[in-house]
Amino acid sequence: MRTNIVILTGAGISAESGLGTFRDEGGLWAQHAIEDVATPEGFSRNPTLVHNFYNARRKQASAAQPNAAHLALAKLEQELNGDLMIVTQNVDALHEKAGSRNVLHMHGALERALCNECGHRWEAPTEMWPDDPCPRCGALATRPDVVWFGEIPYGMKAISDALASADVFAAIGTSGEVYPAANFVAEADGLGAHTVELNLAPSSGAARFGKVVIGAASETVPAWVNHELTRNRA
Ligand code: APR
Repeated sequence: MRTNIVILTGAGISAESGLGTFRDEGGLWAQHAIEDVATPEGFSRNPTLVHNFYNARRKQASAAQPNAAHLALAKLEQELNGDLMIVTQNVDALHEKAGSRNVLHMHGALERALCNECGHRWEAPTEMWPDDPCPRCGALATRPDVVWFGEIPYGMKAISDALASADVFAAIGTSGEVYPAANFVAEADGLGAHTVELNLAPSSGAARFGKVVIGAASETVPAWVNHELTRNRA
C-alpha cells in the first residue's frame, strides 16, 4: 500500500557516528556559548572564532561514517512504495554518505559556503577564514552555509508540502527543543499522519507523538524501517 513518509532527524542519529549532540551531557552547547558561535551577531563580533568552530566540526564530519540508522533510512528510500523526504536539522552529510538522495538540510550544511554579500553558494573548503574572498564577487563576506539562531531555516515550503501528503511522520534523535522543527509533529498529526518518535530518551515533545520508541538509533531505526517496509508491502 503506497505510503508517504516524512522523517525529521537531529543530532542523535549521528551520535553513534562519533559526532557530538548539542544538549546531551557535555554536548556542544556545554562547550561553546550559542550566542558566540551560532548567531549572526556572534559571527560579526568574532568571525575567526566562528570559523574555528565550524572548521573543527567540518573536519570531524567529513571523517565520520554513516551508522546503521542512516543506512536503514537509505534502504527505506530505495524500497518504499511511496515518497520519502528526510528533513534533517544536522549539518553533516551522513544521510548522503549512506545513499539517501531526497535530503533537505533545513539548518544548512557544513560542506557548503555562502557569501553574505552576493548570496553565492559553493562547496566549502576544509577550512574557511574571514579573509577568504567570495569566488564570485570577491567580497570578504564568506561564511558557513549554516542557519544560525534568529535566521530562517531552509525549505520550509517544501517541508509543509511534504507534511501535507505524509501518511507517517517520524522524528529520530532530536530533543524537540528548537522551532520550527519541533512543531512538525503537530502539523503532521493535524493533517492525519501517524507520528512516531525514535529517541534515546523521551524528548520534550514525546507526548505529542502517537508512538515513542526508546533506544539507540542504530538499533531502533533498522527495526522500525523493516516494520514500515513490511506494512508497505501488505
Ligand atoms: N540514538 C537516538 N537518539 C539519541 C542518541 C542515539 N544514539 N544519542 C542522543 N540521542 C538523542 C538525545 O536523547 C536528544 O534527545 O538525540 C537528541 C539530541 O538533541 P539535541 O542535542 O538537542 O540535538 P537536536 O535536537 O538535533 O538540536 C536541534 O538545535 O542547536 C540547534 O541547530 C542546532 O540542529 C540543532 C537543533
